[in-house]
Amino acid sequence: MSEPMKSAKDILTGSRIADGLATKWAGCKLYCYEETGSTNDDAKRCGEAGDPHGTVVTADFQNAGKGRRGRSWRTNPGTALTFSILLRPSFSAERASMITLVMALAVAEALEKILQNKAAVTIKWPNDIVVNRKKICGILTEMTVETKQDKIAYLVVGVGINVNNVSPEEFPEQIRQTAASLRIETGRRVDRTALLQDVLRRFEKFYQVFLETLDLSVLREGYQTRLQGMGEEVRVLDPAGEYTGVSRGIDDRGELIVERADGERVAVYAGEVSVRGLYSYV
Ligand code: BTN
Repeated sequence: MSEPMKSAKDILTGSRIADGLATKWAGCKLYCYEETGSTNDDAKRCGEAGDPHGTVVTADFQNAGKGRRGRSWRTNPGTALTFSILLRPSFSAERASMITLVMALAVAEALEKILQNKAAVTIKWPNDIVVNRKKICGILTEMTVETKQDKIAYLVVGVGINVNNVSPEEFPEQIRQTAASLRIETGRRVDRTALLQDVLRRFEKFYQVFLETLDLSVLREGYQTRLQGMGEEVRVLDPAGEYTGVSRGIDDRGELIVERADGERVAVYAGEVSVRGLYSYV
């Protein structure tokens, strides 16, 4: 059976998103494109152009979507929720990576509300959201610093959530076995506008909590209870050399604590490192 035409209601527009958006600053200015290259790149242009903290860019389709570590992020038109938020923090650049974890927690909670008891939501450190051992969301944070200073000019946090893909065949072949969508998990179409509003509301709340301590001490428990592979053996893919160890959760800076066979605990900083389960993606 062919997929029914996208209902007009599902198209992301500024007025629909703004209507009922329960935030103070997240989404205060909205740019909604039917097609663009990458919403992260658009949000960076907003950063250069002086748009305010909380500006959000959405796109129904990205023709040059970016993933972490130089990978591309591909989605079909109208199926994913792809957006980026522009932030103008006054904290120092070394804290920027923690904002990715703040967003991961916001997305995880919003997805739990939709999935309810249908499937557990976990976070694969630092920022993949996983459902049924498959990735449903990726987050890409990019920072621009003031010239010659450790001061952030602006941060862009980009989020891609697989929402209304009907079957795994809709995903590119190389991720087909490891990708999930809300529609596949729930069996029903999910309203992307409502999901975006909910993510922005939760992100704003957690961001304000983060600002109180400038670390993850308060948010850590919420993140850690959802941490994929907690207490299990993981493989750390460090460009300086791979190793395995047991995941012991995160510290207040959002680093993953890995206990190696000799008992040494290593704090793994996200940067260029990624972590896998011993035998699979998670
Ligand atoms: C990853 O898991 O590798 C991160 C994927 C991030 C994708 C989102 S979609 C919206 C924003 N714009 C981009 O070009 N990338 C991010």
